[in-house]
Amino acid sequence: MPVSTALVATDRPANYLKQLVSHLGHKADARLTADDRGTVTVAAGSCVLAAHRGGLRLIATAEDTERLAQVQDVVARHLVRFATEEELSVDWTEPTAGPDLEILDRVVDDYLLAHCTPADQPLRELAATTREATGNAAGMQVSHDEGTLLTMLTGLTGARFAVEVGTFTGYSSICIARGLAAGGRLLTCDVSEEWTAIARAAWEQAGVADRIDLRIAPALETLRALPAEAVIDLAFIDADKGNYPAYYEEIVRRLRPGGLVVLDNVFLGGRVLDPAYQEDHHLAMRRLNDLIAGDERVESVMLPVRDGVTLARRR
Ligand SMILES: C[S@@+](CC[C@H](N)C(=O)[O-])C[C@H]1O[C@@H](n2cnc3c(N)ncnc32)[C@H](O)[C@@H]1O
Repeated sequence: MPVSTALVATDRPANYLKQLVSHLGHKADARLTADDRGTVTVAAGSCVLAAHRGGLRLIATAEDTERLAQVQDVVARHLVRFATEEELSVDWTEPTAGPDLEILDRVVDDYLLAHCTPADQPLRELAATTREATGNAAGMQVSHDEGTLLTMLTGLTGARFAVEVGTFTGYSSICIARGLAAGGRLLTCDVSEEWTAIARAAWEQAGVADRIDLRIAPALETLRALPAEAVIDLAFIDADKGNYPAYYEEIVRRLRPGGLVVLDNVFLGGRVLDPAYQEDHHLAMRRLNDLIAGDERVESVMLPVRDGVTLARRR
């Protein structure tokens, strides 16, 4: 599904955004998702709008390029018409095919991987064991650069109590456990005895087994059983995507001020941008990305690391 974007230079992006949503709201599905964000869905397709300091960012999608052109036209025409005190220029990028969207070119990916602190023996062995034992499922493991980022974030937040949703064979658990402050603990949640048996062995090998508690149960149950106070310093969410909004909510209300929640796969291989994908987990991730961006409890940033990583820091 084709996607096209435009950055409309203006000092009043939020005004135009609100005007467009309010005007099109009479004849289409147009709504504000936060003070400075909105979406417009017309018969031909839809457009996400986000106000930035330098202008209004537009992301248009439709089933084919012909319909995409109609969406682009509706949005651009209205914006230009609203601009009575300045001349707006809406220059759309060439359409990109949604499902083929990659955040980073493969070559850049490889270059980044080759330029972070290399994996040590226990991590290299775990990656090899995971490939042998789990086949295609091995693709669920975090990449080494993302693992390195987790160790660094855990250290930078001075985390003493970390929570992980989605253990699999334990690679990201090792990375988090290695960043914990002295005496710190990681609680990690999964439902698979089989995959986490590999994790337990790997934690021993990496010398971090003594600081990791593994809970085999649906993660929501484990999270809801935690004290209701701000006890979590850092959390990493990397499990069933449909439950991300519920995981986020349970975690964010327990994050201490300055605490960090890290969410993996927020880009869903480009599918968050493509309205053709309407399964529950696509809808849940789109909704959550919007919610976090407007969540007053946190400051957040979405990083183009692998399949998209959001960092949300509790105020
Ligand atoms: C993407 S993998 C995690 C990868 C891991 N972070 C790593 O780097 O190796 C997702 C994991 O979530 C687990 N999972 C799926 N649904 C779950 C649920 N409801 N509660 C807890 N874990 C779940 C799966 O068993 C799987 O091991």
